[in-house]
Amino acid sequence: MKPYSDRRARLLARMEPGSVAVIGTAPEVARNADTEYPYRHDSSFYYLTGFSEPEAVLLLVAPRGTAGAQSILFCREKHAESEIWDGYRYGPEAARDAFGFDFAFPIGALDEHMVRQLANATALYAPLGRSAAASAQQQRWLEGVRKLARSGATAPPVLRDLPPLVEEMRLFKDEHESAIMLRAGEISAGAHARAMRFARPGVYEYELEAELLHEFRRHGAQFPAYTPIVASGPNACVLHYNANNRRVQDGELVLIDAGCELDGYASDITRTFPANGRFSKPQQALYELVLAAQQAAFGAIAPGRQYHDAHDAAVRVLAQGMLDLGLLAGTLDEVLAQKTYTRFYMHGTGHWIGMDVHDVGLYRDTAREDKPSRLLQPGMAMTVEPGIYVRPAPGVPEQYWHIGIRIEDDVIVRDGGYQLLTGGAPKTVAEIEALMT
Ligand code: GLY
Ligand code: MN
Ligand code: MN
Repeated sequence: MKPYSDRRARLLARMEPGSVAVIGTAPEVARNADTEYPYRHDSSFYYLTGFSEPEAVLLLVAPRGTAGAQSILFCREKHAESEIWDGYRYGPEAARDAFGFDFAFPIGALDEHMVRQLANATALYAPLGRSAAASAQQQRWLEGVRKLARSGATAPPVLRDLPPLVEEMRLFKDEHESAIMLRAGEISAGAHARAMRFARPGVYEYELEAELLHEFRRHGAQFPAYTPIVASGPNACVLHYNANNRRVQDGELVLIDAGCELDGYASDITRTFPANGRFSKPQQALYELVLAAQQAAFGAIAPGRQYHDAHDAAVRVLAQGMLDLGLLAGTLDEVLAQKTYTRFYMHGTGHWIGMDVHDVGLYRDTAREDKPSRLLQPGMAMTVEPGIYVRPAPGVPEQYWHIGIRIEDDVIVRDGGYQLLTGGAPKTVAEIEALMT
C-alpha cells in the first residue's frame, strides 16, 4: 500500500491548492460475443492506486486552507451474483481499507461526487484530449457545476493535462518498482535460455514461443509484455514479425524478442542464436559486431550522459563494422553524415521501459527551445537494443543475406553507471554455443 500512497502524496504536493485531479483505469474490451480480452489496468491509474479492477476512478483533492488532502476511490460495488460468475471484487469499503484511501464510493456515484468536488475547485487535472468518452464526461461534470451558479458555486477556471505529471514520476523507478523489474528480467532471461535449449532445426517458431510463454507463466508473470517475436532466417529482417509460424531451417539464426509482464512491469529482451547451436563464420562476424555495438552503448549510460549518447555510440560501432565487412562503402564520417547505415540499422537503440514496454517519459528537454536530448539520472530504466538486418540486394555480400540480429537488454541508470536487469540470458557466442550443445 505504501508505495502507492506515497505516490499520491507526491502528486498532491505538485497540484495547485484547492485543485482536483481525476484519473480512471482502462476499459474492458470485448474480443467477440461474450468474451473479453484479458483485462489490463491503465498503467498510470495503477501507479497511483495499486488497484487492478476495471471500472475504477481515482479522485485526488489537493489541500486548501484548513482542508487536508483527500484521496478517493470509486470502484465496483460488491455483487453476490457477479462474483459467482466472475470472481471476487473488493467493493468500496474493503478497497478503501486495503489500499489506503481516505474514502471509497461506488462507481455509480462518480458524477454526483465530481460535480460537488469541482464546485469552487481551483483547477481540474485530468487526461485532456485523449478519449472522447472521458472528454464528454468532464464536460458533463463542468455543466453540472455551472448549474449550481445561483448558489454561488464556480467551476474550476483552469483545466490541466494530468498525464505528463504522472509520467514524469513514472520515469524514475523507485525501489519497489526496481525489484519487480529485476524479477521480470530474470524470468524473461530464463525463458530465452529455455527457448535456446529447446531450439533445433525443424522446430516451428510457435513451439519456441510456447516455451517462452510456459516459462513466463510458471513463474507467475501474468502476461507477455508484448506479442513475442520468434523470427527464424529471413523473418528476422522483419522488425515487428510475429506470425511465428515458420519452420526453422538448419544453418539459420533465430531472433527472439520476448519479455514477460510481472505485476504490471514489462521486461524486453532479444537474443539471436543459431538454430543448430553453432554460428557460421558470417553469422558470427555480424553477431560480434552487434555485441560490440551494445557494449559501446552500455559505456554511454551513466548519470549526466545524454539519453541519445547510447544510440550514437552503437551507431558508430555498427557503421565502422559495416564498412569493414563490405556492407557499405566510403568513410566512417560519410556513413554517419549521410546515415547510409540505416539501410541495415533502421531503428533506435532503445526506449524507456517500465509499466509499459515502451514506457512514458520525455526523451528530450522540451522546456528548452533547442529540445536537447535528456540527461540520464538514477532510476531511469531503458533498453539497449542494437541490431543489424541484411536483406538481399545487389552489391550486398551474399554471405550476409537474410541475416537479422538484435541483442536487447534492460538497465536502470544508477550512480556511476547502470544496473543490468537481464544479464541471465546467454549472450556471448561462447555462452550460447555452450548452452546449445
Ligand atoms: N519488443 C519491442 C521492442 O523491442 O521495442
Ligand atoms: Mn524487444
Ligand atoms: Mn525494446
